[in-house]
Amino acid sequence: MNSKIKKVLKKKKKSKIICLTSYSKNIAEEADKYADIILVGDSLGSVLYNYNTTKKVTLTNMIDHSKSVRLGVKKSLMVVDMPHNSYKTKSLALKNAKKIIKETKCDAVKLEGGKKIIKQIKFLIKNKIPVMGHLGLLPQTNKGKFKSKGGSTKEKKQLIKDSLLLQDCGVFSIVLECVKTSLAKQITENLKIPTIGIGSSAYCDGQVLVTDDLIGLNNTKIKFVKKFINIKKYINLGFKKFSSEVKSKKYPLKKHSY
Ligand code: KIV
Repeated sequence: MNSKIKKVLKKKKKSKIICLTSYSKNIAEEADKYADIILVGDSLGSVLYNYNTTKKVTLTNMIDHSKSVRLGVKKSLMVVDMPHNSYKTKSLALKNAKKIIKETKCDAVKLEGGKKIIKQIKFLIKNKIPVMGHLGLLPQTNKGKFKSKGGSTKEKKQLIKDSLLLQDCGVFSIVLECVKTSLAKQITENLKIPTIGIGSSAYCDGQVLVTDDLIGLNNTKIKFVKKFINIKKYINLGFKKFSSEVKSKKYPLKKHSY
C-alpha cells in the first residue's frame, strides 16, 4: 500500500485529517504545507469555468489541472476526481483511471457513488488503483436542489449500506458531502476507514473545503462554507498599487529595467 495512504489511515480516531482542493501549482504548494490530502476536485468546473454543473468537466480538464497541481505537491496524498461519464463502465473506468495516473502521477482517484458504481470501483481496486469514495450529495448526478442527505429512513439506510459496501471493496477513505450530523457520526463510527466531511459535521475523521471558497476567492453562500480569509482584498490591494505606480511613473524604476 502507498505510504501516504497508510499515513492517512493511521490518523483515524487519532488526529483530524486535513484535505484541501487545488487546481494549480502555486495553490498546491501552499496547501501541501498543511494538508494530508490534496484533491483536484471537479468542482473546478463551477469555480474556474462557471459551469452550472460538474457534468461538463472533461477528462482533459482534470488531467491538465492535475499536471499543474503535481508540480506543487511534495508530501501530501494527491487524489484526482474522475469526471462524470469517465467511469460509465468498468473497462472505461480502468482505461481512464490508468490515463489519469500515468499522465498526472497522482496517488489515487475519487469516484462519486455507492452501489450504482460498485462494479467500477471493485474493478479499479482489483487492478491496483487506489480509490477514494464519495457519498451523500453527489454533484455529478444530483438532480434538483442542493440539499442535505440522510434525512429520510430510506436515504439513511442506503447511505449506511453504501459506506459499508465501499469499505468492503477496499476504498481507503470516503468523502461525505452534506450528510446529516447524526448519520455522519454513525457512519464514521461504523467504519474502519476514515471519513472526510464537507458539510457533514465535526464527527467526520477529517474535513475538506474547496480552497477558493475558504480563502474568499470564490463567492459562495453555501451553509457549510466558512471564509477563513478574504484573499480578494489583498489581490485588489496589489492590483491597485501596481496600477497607481504605473500611472504615477513610480514603477518601473531603473533597477527594474535592463
Ligand atoms: O470536486 C470537489 O472539489 C469535491 C470536494 C468538494 C469534496 O469533490
